[in-house]
Formats: sequence, structure tokens, C-alpha cells
Amino acid sequence: MSRSSVRVRPRALVLTTDRLMLRRWRDDDREPFAALNADPVVMEHFPSTQTREESDASVDRFEQHFDEHGFGLWAVEVTDGPPFIGFVGLSVVPFDAHFTPAVEVGWRLAREHWGHGYATEGAWAALAIAFDDVGLAAVVSFTAVANRRSRAVMERIGMAHDPADDFDHPRLAPDSPIRRHVLYRLSRPRAG
Ligand SMILES: CC(C)(COP(=O)(O)OP(=O)(O)OC[C@H]1O[C@@H](n2cnc3c(N)ncnc32)[C@H](O)[C@@H]1OP(=O)(O)O)[C@@H](O)C(=O)NCCC(=O)NCCS
Repeated sequence: MSRSSVRVRPRALVLTTDRLMLRRWRDDDREPFAALNADPVVMEHFPSTQTREESDASVDRFEQHFDEHGFGLWAVEVTDGPPFIGFVGLSVVPFDAHFTPAVEVGWRLAREHWGHGYATEGAWAALAIAFDDVGLAAVVSFTAVANRRSRAVMERIGMAHDPADDFDHPRLAPDSPIRRHVLYRLSRPRAG
């Protein structure tokens, strides 16, 4: 899998990779998405698990983001496999910090779909959109310091971490054990 093997159909907002389809959300994604958001292992590096209502509200926000920006956090389907395994995509950072305004590349998969390279493969597709279609000069990604698996995805896609960029997440309580975050950055590759 490489960036060059990502095929983009931006008008339909569907991206396909070797093994995945990244697409807009369907109503039948809501139940499996709520299940993964209720899994304490998936949500270990977030403030809490989510209720069905909170999970559905997230889907509503993701779809509004697509309508507003033309890109977003795509629902991920395995081609000839499970119709929904989680999300991968791009989102405009919704708070002020030293690195904003910025667009984040992010991912969240159901636990049974970890360990196959799906997050990394989907992230390549999202980056192709970010750089080639949206025309961004750079993207960021961030997570709680201890989120080793997410940091490994960032590193696999070539993002760089400068400890001087680490920050306290402004939407988390000052005494939250996950408040300290690492920031990774990736610049648009040079042509040629
Ligand atoms: C972050 C998260 C998406 C990472 O999932 P992941 O499965 O570790 O990452 P990938 O999908 O890129 O898979 C990489 C793993 O698959 C393996 N793999 C198997 N086949 C592969 C293939 N064809 N290509 C690449 N990797 C492959 C890799 O060796 C690696 O295994 P390892 O963890 O033993 O080193 C997942 O842990 C998650 O959803 N976490 C909860 C939500 C979260 O924290 N999101 C981020 C918040 S900022």
C-alpha cells in the first residue's frame, strides 16, 4: 500500500484503497459505531465511553462536517468484508491551540479490526485527499501521550513529532490524566 495506489472519487466522496472503501455514513452504521464507542478498550484514551445518544450525535456532526467542508471522517468498510469497521478521515480542529487553524487526520476502529493495517491504509487515502484534492500544505494529528497504537499509525504514515509541540488539551479538565497530548505534523510532499 502506498499513496500512489489510492484511487479518489471526490465527487462521490468515496475513496477506495486496496482493501477498503471510505464512504459517507449510513443509518445502519450507527449501531456498530455505538458499540465501538461503548467499548472501554477502544475509548481508553478518551474521557469516557459514549452512550448511544452521544455516538449518534457524533455521526450527525461528522455528516455536517462533510456538508460544510467537502471532506470529513469517513465510515470505513472492508471491501468484500465487514460493512462497517470504524472511521478514518480528516476534520477541522474545533478548538484553539498553538497549532490551529489546522486539519487533523484521525481514526477509530472496532477492536476486532485492529492489527490489520486498516487505519494506516485508510489514512493514506485521507492524506491523498488532504494534499491533492483539498490542497492543504500540512496536516496534524494528536492524541493522549500514552496512546501508543495511535502514535504508531502517525509514525507509519510519516508524521513527525516535536516534543516542543506537546500541549494540554483545552477541552479536558486540568486534572484529567489524559490531558497532556502529543502533536504530530506532516507537510505536503514536494511534487516529483
Ligand atoms: C488507533 C487505532 C486505529 C490503531 O489500530 P491498529 O490496528 O493498531 O493500526 P493499523 O490499522 O494501522 O494496523 C497496524 C497493525 O496491523 C499490522 N498489520 C497486519 N497487516 C498489515 C498490513 N497489511 N499493513 C500494515 N499493517 C499490517 C501491523 O503490523 C500493526 O500491528 P502491531 O500493532 O502488532 O504493530 C486503534 O487502536 C483504535 O481504534 N484505537 C482506539 C481509538 C483511538 O485511540 N483513536 C485515536 C485517537 S487520536
